[in-house]
Amino acid sequence: MKVLVVGTGAREHAICDTLKDDVELFSYMSKVNPGISRIAEYKQGNESEIEKVAEFAKEKEIEIAFIGPEAPLGKGIVNKLEEVGVSCVGPNINAAKIETDKSFMRKLFEDYKIEGSLTYKVFDEYEPLSEFLDSFDKDVVVKPVGLTGGKGVKIVGDHLKDNQEAKEYAKEVMDNAMGGFAQVIIEERLVGEEFTIQAFCDGENLIPMPAAQDHPHAFNGDKGPITGGMGSYTDKGGLLPFLSQDDYDKAVHIMDKTLKAIKEEASPYKGILYGQFMLCSDGPRLIEYNARFGDPEAMNVLPLLKTPMIEICKDIVNGTLSSADFEDKATVCKYIVPDGYPETNHAGEIVEVDEEAINNLGAKVFYAAVDLQDDGIHLSSSRALGIVAKSNTISEAEKIAEEACKFVKGNVYHRSDVGTPVLVEKRVEHMKEILG
Ligand code: GLY
Repeated sequence: MKVLVVGTGAREHAICDTLKDDVELFSYMSKVNPGISRIAEYKQGNESEIEKVAEFAKEKEIEIAFIGPEAPLGKGIVNKLEEVGVSCVGPNINAAKIETDKSFMRKLFEDYKIEGSLTYKVFDEYEPLSEFLDSFDKDVVVKPVGLTGGKGVKIVGDHLKDNQEAKEYAKEVMDNAMGGFAQVIIEERLVGEEFTIQAFCDGENLIPMPAAQDHPHAFNGDKGPITGGMGSYTDKGGLLPFLSQDDYDKAVHIMDKTLKAIKEEASPYKGILYGQFMLCSDGPRLIEYNARFGDPEAMNVLPLLKTPMIEICKDIVNGTLSSADFEDKATVCKYIVPDGYPETNHAGEIVEVDEEAINNLGAKVFYAAVDLQDDGIHLSSSRALGIVAKSNTISEAEKIAEEACKFVKGNVYHRSDVGTPVLVEKRVEHMKEILG
């Protein structure tokens, strides 16, 4: 079967890796990913130019396309590919609104009485926004309504001093129509521990994957600016050290109700649904959805997948999902990024990766925003590569991943604390405090 994976990053490398042994694999990617280019026939091009992707898919007689990133989903790549007879793992433009239009998502929770939402308001004028923030007694999060590549969200207490500063930023979001809408969404800031659940969805049913926890801050100890994610872990049993089965089930229930609501309100949702939750004193609450795999979280769960990915893809497009099995192991992923990331960059510099040594340790490399050229692997301004290890405990997996990071040389850094017992215990203690 001919399968096309759209996207250039580590998430897409991980997706390709699960498919490579069972299909004739094709890739459409903006940069030459060193990992994907050796396992797939590829075309280099902007993944958001959806007509060109559809032309390539038609020319190669692709049967199923797996869409990695959100930007082409927001442009309607699935509708375009379906027009030329290609089935897709990824939601169409209407169903993708669960990520691309945050006011649609929050309204869905209201209209369908889905648990786990939060106080929010959408504004398109400054005066009512200002009045609301003057009277609101909790810290807030300011979010553009549309897609901003993870860079538009600002949190009081993190990027913003207080709700007064939030007003100014919210005005900027509206005035500049950040994310494509002259609107802004203000949400209460939740306090708790964040976790991610990703699920395969066939329009009717979902199959959840092991829970993961990402680390958005750039530096050890959860310090520094928010990034695309510096590393993540999963635990044996599919839960997390601070996440009970009951809370996991509640989060999955929220996702299941959302899937049914999207079908009613927009269109059946086929693809990967990514739920980012905050575990609060009263249980899991939904921070946001993404209409695709998480990055880095895809790199944790995909190496555990025992069911052939192609069978899952067929079930997603045919609406026949029934099960997906995962290996019962813990995983740790550490992202290696250019020095100064996310503020400065070393674009164009070479990074040396001794993959053989990394593999000999039992770890894997997934390449991200790098470009393979004749003289080596070039950094860009974004995350370079993820290193993933799996073992019987988070701590054992962490040791392997950390050791493997030594085999990457260049102007790069990583968070050495992701998955360490000290940091994991800090999460557990934090949750205990919140639960009182
Ligand atoms: N881990 C964050 C994201 O995938 O958006």
